[in-house]
Amino acid sequence: MLLQYRNPSAQNSKRDRGMLRTHLNRLQSSLFPHGLKSAVRARRLAATSGNPSIPADLRTRFETDGFAVIEGFATPDEVAALRKRAGELIDEVQPEDLTIFSTKNQTANDYFNKSAGNISLFFEENAFNAEGNLRQDKSLSINKLGHAMHDLDPTFRNFSRSPKMKAVFDALACQQRPTPVQSMYIFKQPRIGGEVVPHQDSTFLYTEPPSVIGMWLALEKATVQNGCLYILPKSHQRGLDRRFGKQSDGEVGFDEPTKEYDIDEFVPVEVGEGALVMLHGAVVHCSKENTSAKSRHAYTVHFIDGRNPWSKDNWLQRSEDFPFEAL
Ligand code: FE2
Repeated sequence: MLLQYRNPSAQNSKRDRGMLRTHLNRLQSSLFPHGLKSAVRARRLAATSGNPSIPADLRTRFETDGFAVIEGFATPDEVAALRKRAGELIDEVQPEDLTIFSTKNQTANDYFNKSAGNISLFFEENAFNAEGNLRQDKSLSINKLGHAMHDLDPTFRNFSRSPKMKAVFDALACQQRPTPVQSMYIFKQPRIGGEVVPHQDSTFLYTEPPSVIGMWLALEKATVQNGCLYILPKSHQRGLDRRFGKQSDGEVGFDEPTKEYDIDEFVPVEVGEGALVMLHGAVVHCSKENTSAKSRHAYTVHFIDGRNPWSKDNWLQRSEDFPFEAL
């Protein structure tokens, strides 16, 4: 009797356990389509390497809007290291002359042209008073550093070519051979940080066909007060408006006058420190003057698809012994 009593019970509990296991397996495979072990491994890897989780709809949002954001892309340690290194570069880099960078009166002089293959320093337009002296400390007067720090400086190189940067390109699946061609550390200084007028990055970094993706990393919280990015969503769908480079007369400049844009149609992209903003090369974007007391540091790297020929008319030209290097 005892056996008869225990056997059905054992069979029932065995059946219940089987059903429970099946239910759990179904639940697990719906939650972790690539397997629980794989999910745990990925989560552990992210925790140890600081890799951010890449949103599943990143590619769709990027293709639709012309931009996308990953908050927390860079860890606080990475942000601190990039900022520290920029401070050191300001002390190390000596400007050959007092070169001012302004997007309102964009020209290309010899110092600017040479910066294609080195790390140069550019001052803010309003950094100097009428007597030609700096209004505030040198460290608070620099507009940007550029344009080859992603290749020449180990700290910026490592970040620009990090596995998580490659993972973003894998997720976007827009470029078969992501190749960084230009990098800038933008300071957007308190009170004098200059306006960046509406533009498309492919205007300045042209390939045939256009292929630029700009990676814009916030090294400080960016708000409307301290000069965050403003982006015209979906504007990349209209194509490229104009090009900047060597013209038929041999001079470097624009081939078309600027388009008129309604600034009210732009959306402010306020992001936290460490956020990565991905910009399609044809999406129109800008930033306003920083009149606040807070700076707004950012590091940008522009990538092209290395399969697409680089225009010989671009202002940015590398020497033969310093070619672009794919990720
Ligand atoms: Fe830009």
